[in-house]
Parts: sequence; structure tokens; C-alpha cells
Amino acid sequence: MERVNETYGIKAVVSDIATEGFPKIFNEEVVEGVRNFHASIKGYQATPLVRLDELSKELGVSRIYVKDESYRFGLNAFKSLGGTFAIAKFLCEKLGVDIHDVDFEYFKSQEIKEKIKDIVFVTATDGNHGRGIAWAATQLGCKSVVYLPKGSAQRRVDAIIEAGAEAYVTELNYDDAVRLATQKGEENGWYLIQDTGFEGYEKIPNWISQGYITMADEALDQLKLDGIQIPTHVFLQAGVGAMAGGVLGYYVNKFKGNHPTTVIVEPEQAACIYKSALAGDGKPHNVTGDLNTIMAGLACGEPNTVTWEILRDFAKAYVSCPDYVSANGVRILGNSIGQDKKIISGESGSVGVGLLSLLMVKPELEELKNDLGLNENSVVLFFNTEGDTDPENYKKIVHEGKNPSIF
Ligand SMILES: Cc1ncc(COP(=O)(O)O)c(C=O)c1O
Repeated sequence: MERVNETYGIKAVVSDIATEGFPKIFNEEVVEGVRNFHASIKGYQATPLVRLDELSKELGVSRIYVKDESYRFGLNAFKSLGGTFAIAKFLCEKLGVDIHDVDFEYFKSQEIKEKIKDIVFVTATDGNHGRGIAWAATQLGCKSVVYLPKGSAQRRVDAIIEAGAEAYVTELNYDDAVRLATQKGEENGWYLIQDTGFEGYEKIPNWISQGYITMADEALDQLKLDGIQIPTHVFLQAGVGAMAGGVLGYYVNKFKGNHPTTVIVEPEQAACIYKSALAGDGKPHNVTGDLNTIMAGLACGEPNTVTWEILRDFAKAYVSCPDYVSANGVRILGNSIGQDKKIISGESGSVGVGLLSLLMVKPELEELKNDLGLNENSVVLFFNTEGDTDPENYKKIVHEGKNPSIF
């Protein structure tokens, strides 16, 4: 592993890619189960894949694609993909049925609703995951209780309550809120549906990561329609890394090691994947403290133990970014050039685009750009994992220039 010098506050570790040991939890059978299940949910639609030609020209790459998850199930973020699939798998296990034999409507039938009506799901969230759990639980007639870290935006709390959950803002950071949710679950007989894995708790987070296959696979279908079999690069933002690990794990299996060059992007105050890669001992390392960043969805200090191994072995680089990089991404996507479509991207959705915009034009970052093989032939895929889930902060960034560039 090699450390690239810090420039403009951007720190990166570039690593070698493993050529074997592909993660088995994302095999073809799983893919079919996940996609069919999501397709059975009322209102399911593939989210748009937006091609930004003017931005590609401006930055000097062949193509930029943004998979816009702000359209997912009307929830303004991708997270419900993981939560719904995990709840479905959990209920399948309880009811003794196979996910391949049932759909979302099955769980909503009167007979099944009667059997599951007393179930209470509990989780901790920085917003999007909790909203997805609340939404799924309510549709199934179950209850949900959601704990949020301190400083959570009121709009995000309201969205969870509107989706049908009890929500409590704690005085804790995300990782401690997860511990609180775990404890409350044990005390009250509630079922923890958490989007991060830790020792002794890996099955449910694995189902959540599998749920993210849907957006990764939809993107491939959409790229194919545009004549692209495989992107050369994928930028994946990470909180605990369950999303990044799910998408990368799926692509590694699908392309048998010839997967796109993958860049993991995190906020500098919560860069636990970067820190783990930098340590170079193969183990996950935690970041502690307030994890203060505008990228609320990425404000997680403890890597998911399962997906960390996927990111460690198959990602090419791990990049820690100051908040202005995300704010730039919000501004770039929300103020498109020429015929490019405008994309409303929230702070956790935009950071990859913000990073590419620097890598491609700043001579001081050329070494990192070259290490990543980014050039005029590159086809780069991003996942805009959320829209303006905190509209007040979105407005401050776009209208008032909050978190300005430092150059
Ligand atoms: C909008 C958004 N993007 C990305 C992530 C990162 O997902 P993960 O915690 O699985 O790394 C989150 C997590 O909540 C999120 O809300």
C-alpha cells in the first residue's frame, strides 16, 4: 500500500487488488432473489441513470453516469433497498418460507399480517436507513423504533416519524446509537435491523448489503442500453461501508475480478475505511468522537466487519475528503452545464463527483489521477445515494456557498 501526499485536504491510500477470494454472498442466485423481491414492491421502478456529457467534456473523461437514487420508492435515498430486503429475509426465516417463493404482497396478506403484527423492529440511523425501515415496517403492519445520533437534522427526524416509526434523537454519535439500539432491542424483545455488522451480528447486515445489489445491477442494465458493458471506474461513498461493499462485492463476482477500478470516498472526520486501509494490517480500525461532517449519511466511525474485507481486497483507493468536496459535488450536480440534466444530490450523494472534479483538473492531484488510470477514455459511474434529505443545508450550500472550496 502506498500513501499519496495530502493535497487540498484530500488524503488517499492506493492499493493492489486481490485476484481471488471473491465474496460469495453476492452470487447469481442471490441477485435474482433480490431483484425479484424489489420488483414486487408496489411503486418499484428502476431509478434513472443520468449521462452527463458536458461535465465529461469539461473534466476530460469519456463518460460520466450518475445513478440517481433520490428517486427510490419516493424516499429520496437508496437505503430502503437494504432495509426492505433484510426485513423480508428475516420474516422468511421466521415463517419458514424461501424468499424466492414469496413477494412483498405475500407479507401484506391478512393471514401473514396477523402472524407478524406484534413484531417491533429497532434500529439506529443517520436518517436514510431509519426512514427505509420505518416505511417497510409500516407497510407490513409492524412497529419500528429508531434512534438517531446527536445533531440530526429535524427534517430527517420528521421523515422517519411520517413513515410511521417512533424516533428519538440521542446525545450519542452514530456508532454509540447503534449500541443503544442493540441494547433496547435486547431489553424489550425488539428485533434489530441494523445496516452495519459487528462481531456476532452479521447475518442481517449481510442481507442489507445484498439488498443494494438492485441498484448496482439496474445500473449495469442501463449502461448496456447505452452501449457500455462495464464502466472503467466506480466511485462509492462509505459510512460503515455496507453499501460500497455490497456494490463492489457484486461487481467483483459478476466480472470475476475484472471489475471497475473502485474508489472508496469518505468524509475526513469519519474516514474509518481510509484509516483501516492506511493501517495496512488488514484489520478494521475505528474513528471516534463526534464524526462531525455535512455528509451525515457517511458519519460512521466503525467499519462493517464483513464488507470491510471486500473493500480491503478489491477497492483500488480509499480517499478521505473535507466537507467542501461534497459541497462542490452538490453545486456541480445541481447546476448542470448545457444540456446536462440537473441532479438534486444531498451531501452524502455528491462527494464522489466533487472528488472527480478535483482529480481531473488539479495538477497537484495528477499522481493520484494517474494511479487510478483516470483519463479521456474513462467511463465513470457514481451513485447519487440521496437527494436533498436536509433541504435547509442543501439551500445553504447552493444559495449561500456554504463549505466553499479551499483553493
Ligand atoms: C445517502 C447515503 N449514502 C451513503 C451511505 C453509506 O452507506 P454505508 O453506511 O453502508 O456505507 C449512507 C448511509 O446511511 C447514506 O445515507
